[in-house]
Amino acid sequence: MKVHRWLLAGLLGVTALGLSGCRTDMWVQQRVKAQDNSEFYALVDPVKGFDGKIYGDGSRPMPPNTIARGKLHDPNDPFYTGKDAQGNLLNQLPPPLKLSRELLNHGQEKYNAFCANCHGRAGDGKGMIALRGQWPRPVPSLVREQLHTQPLAYFFAAGKYGFGIMYPQYPQLNEYDLWAIAAYIRVLQLSQNANIKDLAPEDLEKLAEAEMARKQRQQQTIAQEN
Ligand code: HEC
Repeated sequence: MKVHRWLLAGLLGVTALGLSGCRTDMWVQQRVKAQDNSEFYALVDPVKGFDGKIYGDGSRPMPPNTIARGKLHDPNDPFYTGKDAQGNLLNQLPPPLKLSRELLNHGQEKYNAFCANCHGRAGDGKGMIALRGQWPRPVPSLVREQLHTQPLAYFFAAGKYGFGIMYPQYPQLNEYDLWAIAAYIRVLQLSQNANIKDLAPEDLEKLAEAEMARKQRQQQTIAQEN
């Protein structure tokens, strides 16, 4: 019994010591946050703000004549905004892009990976997520007639900035990807609204051959059945 009491007292003592050892000055002390105002640097490297107050930059000051590199670009470049100088959505690929088989293939690959899950591989709005009906609003078709007259950058901008309840597909897709996808959406629109007059003579021939073959097969099955 006695031993127990001593043990308890000892434990309590150690706990009390431990608790008193916790001091708060580590988290209430001054510290520098990146890109933030710092009272310390306001003393050593003061800058007067627009509001007349003295600020210090919490980050290392830039050496004079520093030039930004890498992702820096003109914020008005149509390649990034999808708009011309008047602020209208572009209806063609911006420079330096040119329509090519390579661009369309790239667009197809990215579309199938990033858009088809909702909008469907054919662009008809019947992707797996749409079919499961987990959206408060139906996933729209991208090949319906109303969208044929929308400028090309309409699809670029929807991908980059999002559209209604659809979240942006940027920056997981970059501008090049998004332009390629926009061009590919035009392919989908065309492919499902093709006019027979637009086909080249050799394609018309192939179509006629396929039609002949189909008719022959049909006649054969009828003959077999009788
Ligand atoms: C997770 C599902 C989902 C994905 C992925 C998705 N979208 Fe959407 N998208 C939607 C929904 C839902 C709407 C309708 C939003 C609304 O009405 O608020 C929409 C709307 C749009 C619209 C506007 C269509 C109209 O009717 O005017 C365009 C254009 C579009 N999406 C393009 C894309 C492109 C391009 C991609 C791929 C880069 C993509 N979307 C990926 C769900 C998705």
